Amino acid sequence: MQPMASPAGLVALAICFLVLVVGPDGAYGSSRGSFGQNNGAAAAPVVNGICATSVTIHGYKCEEHEVITEDGYILNMQRIPEGRVSSGGNKKQPILIQHGVLVDGMTWLLNSPQQNLPMILADNGFDVWIANTRGTRFCRQHVSLDPVHPEFWDWSWDELVSYDLPAVFGFVFNHTGQKIHYIGHSLGTLIGLASFSEGHQADKLKSAAFLSPIAYLSHMKTALGVLAARAFVGEITTIFGIAEFNPKGPEASAFLKALCDYPGVDCYDLVSAVTGKNCCLNASTVDLFLQNEPQSTSTKNMVHLAQTVRDGVIKKYDYGRPDYNLMRYGEPMPPAYNISNIARDLPIFISYGGQDALSDVQDVQLLLDHLKFHDVNKLSIQYIKDYAHADFIMGINAKDVVYNQVVQFFKNQQ
Ligand SMILES: *[C@@H]1O[C@H](CO)[C@@H](O)[C@H](O)[C@H]1NC(C)=O
Ligand SMILES: *[C@@H]1O[C@H](CO)[C@@H](O)[C@H](O)[C@H]1NC(C)=O
Ligand SMILES: *[C@@H]1O[C@H](CO)[C@@H](O)[C@H](O)[C@H]1NC(C)=O
Repeated sequence: MQPMASPAGLVALAICFLVLVVGPDGAYGSSRGSFGQNNGAAAAPVVNGICATSVTIHGYKCEEHEVITEDGYILNMQRIPEGRVSSGGNKKQPILIQHGVLVDGMTWLLNSPQQNLPMILADNGFDVWIANTRGTRFCRQHVSLDPVHPEFWDWSWDELVSYDLPAVFGFVFNHTGQKIHYIGHSLGTLIGLASFSEGHQADKLKSAAFLSPIAYLSHMKTALGVLAARAFVGEITTIFGIAEFNPKGPEASAFLKALCDYPGVDCYDLVSAVTGKNCCLNASTVDLFLQNEPQSTSTKNMVHLAQTVRDGVIKKYDYGRPDYNLMRYGEPMPPAYNISNIARDLPIFISYGGQDALSDVQDVQLLLDHLKFHDVNKLSIQYIKDYAHADFIMGINAKDVVYNQVVQFFKNQQ
């Protein structure tokens, strides 16, 4: 395999993930425009929360909640407690929905109520909780830190595993007194898999659905590899520092532009090659997406993802020096997450797409290989030939293709 100069490559990847939804019509310019024009927009608080802008307008009840992580981040959650037509008094099962990197929970809600996953679940009698990770627009508060300071951004997806997930699981469990069905997309699958492999949430978890799973990342497709190989390994820290990674900020825009201006790099091709060609997106939904996303994460999180690509294994953040790792972990190398340790009787549903260049089919096979001793009747796998990464959250036909299966899977666990 071609070695990837990973941090820069992953930044390119992430940015391209955002560009990807523009789709095959070559509307690259419009997304670039949005990167350039909204400097700082990710930091600007929006007056109305996700409930008001995206849920109650469709006639659903929606509650805004605040959850504090053990390391002090104040996370925002939405709850859709029931469907539009309340289906009576029996106790509803809670479902926790976790989005991917550089977006927030609103991405689940951009399609119509008949098409989007949270509302379909609510209409099917579930109690739906939408998580938002630290750093995204409604999760920029902390008990003592401020997002203008680098310390606020000193975390990677390890902390999403160690702090964000336990906080939201604990919160939902306390509110409902019931075990929780988990749904993750993209990075939301990786942190779920990592967490469950360490036995966290075992007492609170009923089953898990992983859409477009990201665990192993070493087969991500070639255009990125070519691009990344040309980029400098240290580039990301020189440009961004250990701080906020704001994809709408001037540095990220300049970085993307530099990559796109690289001789021989065609950003139109890059988008398809890196992210896969989404079959089934609605142009209006894509516009809405670009009004709301992308959103910030930490540079350290991007570097950690890049390490996952580079190393072909799922490990904790590598400080790059044995002495630093020793200080942090008590070992010179970062400890690995062992996916095979996930409880073999945990009901799991995995859905992956044949066109998904981020969750590459070969990498999904590697993941499935690590689950080969899982109880056969507890593992459901769905392969969708035409689907790429964003179809799983915004596909106009996702209800028929994926969500009905997810609903059935959860209903089978009752
Ligand atoms: C859940 O309730 C327990 C017991 O009251 C409490 O110790 C814990 O902090 C609560 N967790 C959350 C996340 O609210
Ligand atoms: C696309 O989105 C628009 C605006 O929400 C909606 O009116 C239209 O019905 C959608 N098209 C499809 C095919 O879902
Ligand atoms: C991972 O976990 C599996 C199942 O518990 C075990 O058989 C295997 O040896 C572990 N792998 C490593 C590298 O520790």
